[in-house]
Amino acid sequence: MCGIVGYVGEKPVVDILLEGLSKLEYRGYDSSGIAVNCDDKIETYKAKGKLQNLRNLIEPIHGKLNKSSYGIGHIRWATHGSPNEINAHPHSCNCGKLVIVHNGIIENFKQLKEMLTNCGCEFRSQTDTETVAHLIAHKFGEYNDLKKAVSEATKQIEGTYALCVIHQDVKDTIVVTKRNAPLIIGIGENEHYVASDVPAIIQYTKKAVYLEDNQIAVLTPSTMELFDKNLNKLEPKVEILPWESMSLSKMGFKHFMLKEIHEQPDVVRNILTDKLTGCDEPIQLNEVKLTKDELKKLNRIQVVACGTSLHAAMVGKYIIESLCSIPVDVEPSSEYIYRKTVTDENTLVIGVSQSGETADTITAIRQSKARNSHILVITNRPDSTMARDADSLLPVNAGIEVSVAATKSYVAQLVSFYLLAIYIAEIQGKMDKDTLTNIKNELVILPQKIEMILAHKENIQACARMYSNSRNFIYIARGINYATALEGALKLKEISYINATGYPAGELKHGPIAMLDETLPVLSILMSGMVYDKILSNSEEAKARNAKMIALTDSDDENLKELFDFIIKVPKVQELVSPILSIVPLQLLAYYIAEFLGKDVDQPRNLAKSVTVE
Ligand code: F6R
Repeated sequence: MCGIVGYVGEKPVVDILLEGLSKLEYRGYDSSGIAVNCDDKIETYKAKGKLQNLRNLIEPIHGKLNKSSYGIGHIRWATHGSPNEINAHPHSCNCGKLVIVHNGIIENFKQLKEMLTNCGCEFRSQTDTETVAHLIAHKFGEYNDLKKAVSEATKQIEGTYALCVIHQDVKDTIVVTKRNAPLIIGIGENEHYVASDVPAIIQYTKKAVYLEDNQIAVLTPSTMELFDKNLNKLEPKVEILPWESMSLSKMGFKHFMLKEIHEQPDVVRNILTDKLTGCDEPIQLNEVKLTKDELKKLNRIQVVACGTSLHAAMVGKYIIESLCSIPVDVEPSSEYIYRKTVTDENTLVIGVSQSGETADTITAIRQSKARNSHILVITNRPDSTMARDADSLLPVNAGIEVSVAATKSYVAQLVSFYLLAIYIAEIQGKMDKDTLTNIKNELVILPQKIEMILAHKENIQACARMYSNSRNFIYIARGINYATALEGALKLKEISYINATGYPAGELKHGPIAMLDETLPVLSILMSGMVYDKILSNSEEAKARNAKMIALTDSDDENLKELFDFIIKVPKVQELVSPILSIVPLQLLAYYIAEFLGKDVDQPRNLAKSVTVE
């Protein structure tokens, strides 16, 4: 993960670097640092913890540093070495003249470190990155040419990287390169920007070049030269970024997470607007580039994703199998990429990712692409690496999600899966039309139902207050809402650090039931439908072991009050569509528990929004 920024030009450098880093905080926030030229030297400032600590450190000399003409910055999510000031980037060579920032992982750093130590390099940090600083400096000593040094050094590096390199003796120049980590170059008037992601530069320029793997760019205020890894000159492909400069505001909510939960009704409406023009009309999904014949020939779908996106994929499996009768496998990308998977040209591989930059999912879809499968990507970032790799791109258009814990992007992914399943079913023509029309009708009224949940959130807040001291939580469900149980538990874990686990309710008696006693809340997702009675019985079993019982239900059954200590009521909904609704109270429950506990809701410890390392 980590975010990197760079600037060369006449504007106040420190302001641009710090502002850029603040826009990349979603990528990591355990430490940060900048390096700028000052009085003919490169000066580096680093601080442990949030970006504000770096701002405080720089404050007394801010004005002076702002007069620099080039600089680089970094916000870290630790991979090698704990998050402290020494391990924070930028890192430099022995003499401190060559300074770099890095996003990624250097897999052969131990071998490189040994080799460089034998050459006299002194290592100060525990990071993998420092080897790269020494290695490039070593090559610079040999070639006295920074781009050549970067080119030669990267030939020896194994792993992933986005790198910005500056040198005290190569004035007003930043050399950048990347492999399997994102990097974008912004082009201004007599200035260049570089960043891990668009939000860091969009307020300054919309003209940009997405660097491709192994390319090297040399940036000065007035020039941008682009090379391949052997330093053959390339013509940069300049794009106009389809983004507006945005100031992200909490709009009066205490946290971005709460605001984003409240945006969900509109997120659902937005996705449906273009694609579902009428409940009797077929779904419009021009984004799917498979022909009707190819869609009919599909013999298998594999979905790869991580974390919350994986839970959306599990719901996707259920709905596609129900409506299209195509077998669907769902697998965490990190597992998928290390086994032999059976795919062919009649297999559709779907990558699901809010960020579109998750390293494991990128590897998974690239592996499948090499086996000739069609790659469909469902993402909230249509400009991301995964989107660029996709054969078919289904953007979920949930808008920027700031909170690290995903909420609205999850709901948007769910809706996208419903649309995709209905679309395929309509092309297959095997499913009866009324069933599909019913689901469409239900989708259209979902935003109002979510609004009803949000309007009665005090009840969920009361539930949170009641159970916020629990050290463990169990969520149970069956069928299509099993994924909801996993996602609800994940939300609670992520932001409150309470040990929460989701189980298929029928599995409780096969082991987990041993944990139940009067201290353990069990939350049953009890939505009307096929498995309602089954979950009710499983809840009885838990109650008999004295567990504290919470129901999340759309049922009006008064008898539930005898079984459950607390009931969270949601509007009635068709079982097949219920995951889009049932997750909302669980997001709120996690939010309010974390808020009661005084946790850093939007930036929970140890996490990052974009996981660009394996
Ligand atoms: C949880 C969360 C993570 C991500 C996971 C995959 O709230 O956000 O579990 O879902 O890291 O990230 P994406 O979806 O960007 O591939």
